[in-house]
Amino acid sequence: EKIYVGVDVGGTTIKVGICDSEGKLLGTYEGDTEVSKGTDAILHNIAKYARAIVEESPYEWEQVDGVGIGIAGFLDIPAGYVKFSANLKIENTDLKGILEQELGKTIKINNDANVAALGEAWAGAGRGVSDCVCYTLGTGVGGGIIIGGKIVEGFASMAGELGHIAIVPDLEAIQCGCGKMGCLETVSSATGIIRMAKDAVARGDRTSLSQVENIMAKDVVDAAKAGDEVASRIVSRAAYYLGKSMAIMAIVLNPEYFIVGGGVSKAGDFLFDQIREVFEKYTQDQAKEGVRIVPAVLGNDAGVVGAAGLILRG
Ligand code: BGC
Ligand code: NA
Ligand code: ZN
Repeated sequence: EKIYVGVDVGGTTIKVGICDSEGKLLGTYEGDTEVSKGTDAILHNIAKYARAIVEESPYEWEQVDGVGIGIAGFLDIPAGYVKFSANLKIENTDLKGILEQELGKTIKINNDANVAALGEAWAGAGRGVSDCVCYTLGTGVGGGIIIGGKIVEGFASMAGELGHIAIVPDLEAIQCGCGKMGCLETVSSATGIIRMAKDAVARGDRTSLSQVENIMAKDVVDAAKAGDEVASRIVSRAAYYLGKSMAIMAIVLNPEYFIVGGGVSKAGDFLFDQIREVFEKYTQDQAKEGVRIVPAVLGNDAGVVGAAGLILRG
């Protein structure tokens, strides 16, 4: 019996999972990424955790058919190469080559959000749906496009980088981590929400957030739910640009589902209702017919399941 290892490389933790050939998760393992120790340490940790999970399981290393890896940033997917990852501080690294050497297994890499999208499409909110567009709202805004059950990668592996859609008008735009102005990520990520909240407090706006020591995105959402006007405006702004980006994606790709995951999506209907309202308003009637905006269901597991799926379904 063959097993498939999926790895989700995040800024803080590396999560590893084993799947059977049906995509059923048989076990997971989590360890520190140790970004501050540099690229070599991160790669070494990936290999170490992949070995550890198989060792702790009832399976043998010989049964591993391949290791799929989801990683944030701009990649050369077919080459297995990381061009630039701002979050992980990895640049021009032959991830696939190095890990194939170290693990002696087939390695496939893909963007973290693409992989989460594959996981959701395969075994989560999008099960049975052939075309869906996924967003992950966390440190950044990730995007993954699944058409005909397959990840859309683009010619230079840059398809589905939805966080970098330049959507905020110039007069209100700030610079994104990617270097460009007005990206969706600057307003709809956890980082963007926190920044807008801190700006409001620094400006002296009247808000309950000025009482909060170290503002997190959840604090802003909670304050908005409690009726704080400043916090409400920030959450609405995040929802507005998400909804508008979906209106664009709807007319470009006509997906059946928009699946939204990541920490910020835990805001629930409070956030989703606002996104849906904007989507309704801006999307042409035939392009939105039957289209649904739904929360991700695999939560933290979407990445490892989708990463294992790179091997299984590749
Ligand atoms: C990166 C993407 C990544 C997303 C979520 C963005 O800033 O450009 O590659 O998928 O963050 O981690
Ligand atoms: Na992506
Ligand atoms: Zn950007």
